[in-house]
Amino acid sequence: MGDMPEMGEGVSGRRDDARVILEARGVTKCYHLGEVDVHALRGVDLSICDGRMLSLMGPSGSGKSTLMHIIGLLDRPTEGSVIVEGEEVSRMSPNELAAVRNHRIGFVFQSFNLLARTSALANVELPLVYAGVSGSERARRAREALERVGLGDRLGHLPNQLSGGEQQRVAIARALVTEPSIVLADEPTGNLDSISGHEVMAILQELNIHGITVVLVTHDDSVARHAERIVRIRDGLVVGDERVTERISAADQRDAVAEETGGGRA
Ligand SMILES: Nc1ncnc2c1ncn2[C@@H]1O[C@H](COP(=O)(O)OP(=O)(O)OP(=O)(O)O)[C@@H](O)[C@H]1O
Ligand SMILES: [Mg+2]
Repeated sequence: MGDMPEMGEGVSGRRDDARVILEARGVTKCYHLGEVDVHALRGVDLSICDGRMLSLMGPSGSGKSTLMHIIGLLDRPTEGSVIVEGEEVSRMSPNELAAVRNHRIGFVFQSFNLLARTSALANVELPLVYAGVSGSERARRAREALERVGLGDRLGHLPNQLSGGEQQRVAIARALVTEPSIVLADEPTGNLDSISGHEVMAILQELNIHGITVVLVTHDDSVARHAERIVRIRDGLVVGDERVTERISAADQRDAVAEETGGGRA
């Protein structure tokens, strides 16, 4: 029942009348490669409620990134529709589309996608450049976003002067700096050691506690269970949709590891 709002008691104990903020209806994606058609998505229905946290799981090649790009408005479906806050994306003008993309949705990519010769601060400022925010305001907001992910003391570092976990946190700060209502994160812990992974997951859970809708792609069941709902995708179709009964707290995990390793980083 992909098109029904989620009802019942929220795992997080929050309100149970959440409205749908993001919806895919009958979404297909077919890539034409010469003579071959690749059916990456074959009719996906998915409703995501405001303020919720959802994990999207599935084997490699099942269509997770394709779906994330389509619901993040970075790509268009071949058929079907995407509806953001009640408005069908295909009916939006280019300006409206750009505004939704620049202000409502933050994207954390599978590879961090940071500009190499550019400081952490300037990387995080970039979406604000596209949004037309003035220079001093940009720097202030980018600094705040980096402080929020614990990198207030790394503003001038280039990506290659940061650890993998720190680079991923810069990528999260970049997704946050426009104050989006939805954050889409594609394998945000895929390239990280476990403690950096806990830190990144703690940030995403913290955002969710503050009301931001989070959609997270992962291969890893223990990462997926940080969300309150897991949607499974296989061969371009949704094949499962379940509620997480015992949601994992990344902050607890991070603190437990820190305690084991004597309070510091291993
Ligand atoms: N630009 C493209 N052109 C042609 N085929 C593509 C393109 N992008 C993706 N595909 C194909 O579509 C299918 C779904 O790809 P997608 O990247 O969505 O998978 P995924 O679930 O994110 O996998 P992974 O877990 O490995 O990241 C794959 O078979 C892939 O080869
Ligand atoms: Mg992918």
